[in-house]
Amino acid sequence: MKTDFIRKPLDLPSDEWIQAPLAYQGGPAVLPEDVRKTNFPIITKEDVIQMLVSIQQDGDKVVEEFQEAYRQYVGANYAIATASGTSSLHLALVGAGVQPGDEVIVPAFTFIATAQAVVAAKAIPIFVDIDPVTYCLDPSKVEDAITRKTKAIMPVHVHGLPADLPALSGIANQYSLRLVEDASHAHSASIHGRLAGSIGDSAGQSLMADKNFPVGGEGGIAFFKEKEDYKRALDFLNTSGIDYRMSWIAAAFGLSQLDRLPYYDAIRARNAAYLTKALAETKLFSGPHVPGGYKHSYNMYRVKLSPERLGLDDLEDFRVKDAIQQLIQLEGVYAREWQNVPIPGHLPFQNRKGFGNGYPFTLSDRKDFGYDVNRFPVTLNMLRNSLTICRELRTPIEYERIQAYALAFKKIDANPHIIRELVERGGGELKSPYERDARLG
Ligand SMILES: Cc1ncc(COP(=O)(O)O)c(C=O)c1O
Repeated sequence: MKTDFIRKPLDLPSDEWIQAPLAYQGGPAVLPEDVRKTNFPIITKEDVIQMLVSIQQDGDKVVEEFQEAYRQYVGANYAIATASGTSSLHLALVGAGVQPGDEVIVPAFTFIATAQAVVAAKAIPIFVDIDPVTYCLDPSKVEDAITRKTKAIMPVHVHGLPADLPALSGIANQYSLRLVEDASHAHSASIHGRLAGSIGDSAGQSLMADKNFPVGGEGGIAFFKEKEDYKRALDFLNTSGIDYRMSWIAAAFGLSQLDRLPYYDAIRARNAAYLTKALAETKLFSGPHVPGGYKHSYNMYRVKLSPERLGLDDLEDFRVKDAIQQLIQLEGVYAREWQNVPIPGHLPFQNRKGFGNGYPFTLSDRKDFGYDVNRFPVTLNMLRNSLTICRELRTPIEYERIQAYALAFKKIDANPHIIRELVERGGGELKSPYERDARLG
């Protein structure tokens, strides 16, 4: 049997690496190819033993034990462990009282499952643009989207930064709407010490393999504040006969992973802080802004590009982004696009086939659902001017690796003429991100 612990130690990073020719020019890559692999999730003997022991136990009890342990960790009143994040969001919406034909406000920038969970609840997603700094739902644009059909606002804690829930719950209270969190990126993230998932009326959270808190394979959990909402969700499960149960092997893996979650969170926070500080020393790059009192969980780390600060603003921004992406990947840092199109630009919202014959969109008397991507200029601009580090940063990687990542960004920052050369050589074929087919992640 091969394990994934076949690794080589990294060389200790050195500032001199910045002066070396770029890998694109034939120089040494900051991270040589044979040390680029990141392992995630980390599996220890505790996980293996927990799963082996659980296989012979009563499956429902193992799931209940996990559900209760994580509910307590999050500080939510009620929880239902589920088969996926999407199903947890569906339950969170149903529990909050969303009915067929209702409208639910969601951000234009998220993963498609946020909006598809609304469709699963037979309701209509209404998209609203994001805040240019936090990339989360912009509360100042929400009121314009509220109609007499609106039932809920569903913010997403994008990349792990909690959305502005204080402002959004103010709006929800004012218009008697429910607040449903999509906390899929935000395990252990918090606002003034209250954990994501426990703040809104209800919440859904993915626990799939690539999330900061993974159960083995697919999984999710829904949280509820009010007993009535929790019971409504349970009732839906019982009466619809839909099986959204979490597998107990996944729950067992989650139980032992939960013990180590605070440790991994601390390493992620340390690495993100290191990278943000290093990027602040460059002209071209900057890391995420985290408002005071907010804790980011860094499921992803979005790097903002400012080409104008290197005199590259006569070039088209998305071409500059593409050139930087090529250069940094050659240095061994897999920074890339995560989403290239606002969610309303994805096919299911453009064609509105729904479950067939257009249901549930046919429940609406709207002529215009607002799914034209040009209505979301902040999202479009962000997609043209940023790159994302995904797995590499959510993995609790070693300190020297994060130093190497920082050096790779600094090396690109020191070579604006190469970025220009690459853009000018690139020709006209490249399309802007959102003119290409929508990519899921
Ligand atoms: C923001 C967001 N919401 C919901 C989901 C859906 O979760 P799942 O894939 O577990 O169904 C994801 C998955 O990546 C996500 O990123």
